[in-house]
Amino acid sequence: MLRSVILAAARSNRVERLVETAPVSRSIVRRFIAGEHADDALQRTRELAADGLAVTIDYLGEDTANPQQAEATRDEYLKILDALHAAELTPAAEVSLKLSALGQLFDEKVAYEHARAICAKASEAGTTVTLDAEDHTTTDSTLEVLARLRAEFPTTGAVVQAYLRRTEADCRELAVAGSRVRLCKGAYKEPESVAYQTRLDVDKSYVRCLNVLMAGAGYPMAATHDPRLIGIGEDRAKWYERTPDEFEFQMLYGVRPEEQLRLARLGYTVRVYLPYGTQWYAYMMRRLAERPANVAFLARALRSR
Ligand code: FDA
Repeated sequence: MLRSVILAAARSNRVERLVETAPVSRSIVRRFIAGEHADDALQRTRELAADGLAVTIDYLGEDTANPQQAEATRDEYLKILDALHAAELTPAAEVSLKLSALGQLFDEKVAYEHARAICAKASEAGTTVTLDAEDHTTTDSTLEVLARLRAEFPTTGAVVQAYLRRTEADCRELAVAGSRVRLCKGAYKEPESVAYQTRLDVDKSYVRCLNVLMAGAGYPMAATHDPRLIGIGEDRAKWYERTPDEFEFQMLYGVRPEEQLRLARLGYTVRVYLPYGTQWYAYMMRRLAERPANVAFLARALRSR
């Protein structure tokens, strides 16, 4: 219930204005986000890499309705990829992008062209790109764009969401040689017709999808902070005789950092999803929705208005 309310607020311009200007918001934002500028993301990437962690950088923004904004997002990705290359932070750092930030909502072709330019730059920089998964109305379009990009840039990664009923079947399609697939639970508010609604059903689906990915020929990326699912990931990797370079764990910046280090010290590849930019509102609200304890911060932010 609380999760639904917060996720609905994530799409409200009124609540966005309220939260963005509340003083305490800044401290919550600092916990989950590298900073506002590319230099902040570079600095955090250096620090994470020094701790033995891999990184995927996300330039914040989504649901863009404006072609100039989509171009600006593309250009920011080209800039950060150049900077990562110059700083010798590739291939340990890659980038994650949302097609809706590149124009998917108004023209899928535009989003594809921008994503293609970013993949070409990533390839020049010696790294790669992963396409984030957004709400279910975009899944078919995103997987179509992914297939086109993979024809030219085979390492382009997919993201699948265990809460969607379709995802186990998508995993079967995607678990092929060379295919990088991030499996997450899913962060949006979705109707029962397309998505499992209970924690238990989502977790069971996560395990079924993980089994398919670990048994397949691709490169699974288990994105979760859930201790039980991490344990199952370790177990399945052993069962399918995957060495540490044949799969990875992924977690969000600011969430369970001590667990990220623990897994890295055990020899696993752990990649941290590192967002930066000024458009942090929707991203931060999804993080709050994932953990009721975080909501106390939000309540304080709003009371202080
Ligand atoms: P769950 O939410 O059950 O959390 C398990 C435990 O982890 C909690 O009990 C708590 O201890 C800790 N925890 C989790 N979230 C926390 C938080 N915000 N603050 C503090 N502690 C927290 N989603 C999507 O729809 N599309 C996408 O492209 C991506 N991409 C993505 C990349 C990466 C690297 C990760 C880790 C996650 C995503 N997600 C995502 C988000 C994902 O779908 C999901 O919403 C979150 O990972 C939370 O789910 P968990 O699997 O962590 O389990």
